[in-house]
Amino acid sequence: MGMDRDPLTPTAGTVLLNALQQVAEFTLPLHLPAHGGGRGFPPALTALLTGPLGPLDLPELPDLGGPLLPHGAVAEAQQATARLWGSRSCWFGVNGSTGLLQGALLGALRPGQRLLCPRNLHRSVLHGAVLAGLEPIYYTLPFSRRWGLSQPVDAAWFQRVLAAVAAQGCSVDLVLLVNPTYQGLSAPLTPLVQLCHDQGLPVLVDEAHGSHFRAHAALPRDALAAGADLVVHSTHKSLPGLTQTAVLHCCSAHFSRKDLEQGLLLLQTSSPSALLLAATELAAAWPHQQPQAGRLLSCAMDRWTHWRQQLTRAGWRVSPSDDPLRLRLCTMAQGRSGLVLDEHLLRLGIAGELPEPAGLTFCLGFQPPRQALSQLQSALTQLHWPPPSPPGAGAGVQPAPTPLVARSAVPPRTAWFGPTRRLPLKEAVGHVVAEAVTPYPPGIPLLLPGERLDEERCVWLLHSRHLWQHPGGMLDTVKVLR
Ligand SMILES: Cc1ncc(COP(=O)(O)O)c(C=O)c1O
Repeated sequence: MGMDRDPLTPTAGTVLLNALQQVAEFTLPLHLPAHGGGRGFPPALTALLTGPLGPLDLPELPDLGGPLLPHGAVAEAQQATARLWGSRSCWFGVNGSTGLLQGALLGALRPGQRLLCPRNLHRSVLHGAVLAGLEPIYYTLPFSRRWGLSQPVDAAWFQRVLAAVAAQGCSVDLVLLVNPTYQGLSAPLTPLVQLCHDQGLPVLVDEAHGSHFRAHAALPRDALAAGADLVVHSTHKSLPGLTQTAVLHCCSAHFSRKDLEQGLLLLQTSSPSALLLAATELAAAWPHQQPQAGRLLSCAMDRWTHWRQQLTRAGWRVSPSDDPLRLRLCTMAQGRSGLVLDEHLLRLGIAGELPEPAGLTFCLGFQPPRQALSQLQSALTQLHWPPPSPPGAGAGVQPAPTPLVARSAVPPRTAWFGPTRRLPLKEAVGHVVAEAVTPYPPGIPLLLPGERLDEERCVWLLHSRHLWQHPGGMLDTVKVLR
């Protein structure tokens, strides 16, 4: 059942509200936030949101304070949260992981310093590099042709990355790890962090999708436990919190509180919502509310296994996942696009999280609706797609032809603000690109501002463009520096 909206009679002031109510009523949410329509809220958050909200919609009053103020309830809540997680300090944020990743970069690094980051970085980090005037060095991730998906790095791969950086004569000021991936794959973080620390390199982990790992011993080790210096958690992507909320943890003496707060100050609103901040605290405490949180995740693991069995039996191929909250159908196995599957499901009122050419990832969240699996199965049977071909057969999504480690031709900031012109992709070979080419979701750039486009990459991009062809996909032109 699709959304039934009359486009001829929009009433100014209620257009969005009406749309919101209709979407909420008619859509099966298999997307973020992870609380899944509120079913997964901790009881205290349910109670908070079902009472009258007006009186609680407050800014930084003296008793409450705010994330960057030394006194008040928010400061106390942040201290209590840092104690729970074992960090030195933490800050709540109301501009998502985006705002906190960017604030962390602005606070931790100075213009011209180098950030070693994976090619599956979220665009928020790229934008942070633009704001802070950083020089990223990009490293390529392993790629699985079987699943059409970048894989997490292991210690041996990362050792090669660090060796390649050293061979280029580069010093690095901060290493970024993105873990787990959007699709739920996790690296063994402890040896990666150790490799960096052995070289005196601090580590920032974008753990937007893995803040729940702390809550169950069978889940991968979380970034704080692995010894990372800075960690960003999304309390809406992987904890049962409200959209826009996130937490930055500082876990080592490598960065001063003052510097980090200066970075955060550049981007924080002067009126952070106390309501959102209270929800952040509740969600951030959730993994430590045992045994309830552990039980919920045990159920989530059983659910994931059950869904995979049912979907596999129905002829679908389910990608491996380290995260029971994410389930990905590998449509490439049937020679079909995850974007086409997503469009089909949306027409039937089922909204997945992350459509890609090789598959579609669903966010099962902490508590999907009871009928979710049967509704999904009945929508899938309407497709009559061929059964999956044997693993490895047929052409699939190709990995980007990028070297293991590459520096930008010019810093992203120079490219971003430079004099530019727009060229057809084919004519841009040899030029320095001045914008990111980023299908959204997943918000992972295929080409980064400051990179020089070579022939091989251009051919790959043209192929990718064809695969990503959908509204909001990719243009056939690109901005380049003059
Ligand atoms: C890996 C990763 N980091 C950061 C972000 C930004 O998170 P937010 O939407 O909370 O700003 C995203 C968003 O999808 C992401 O996938």
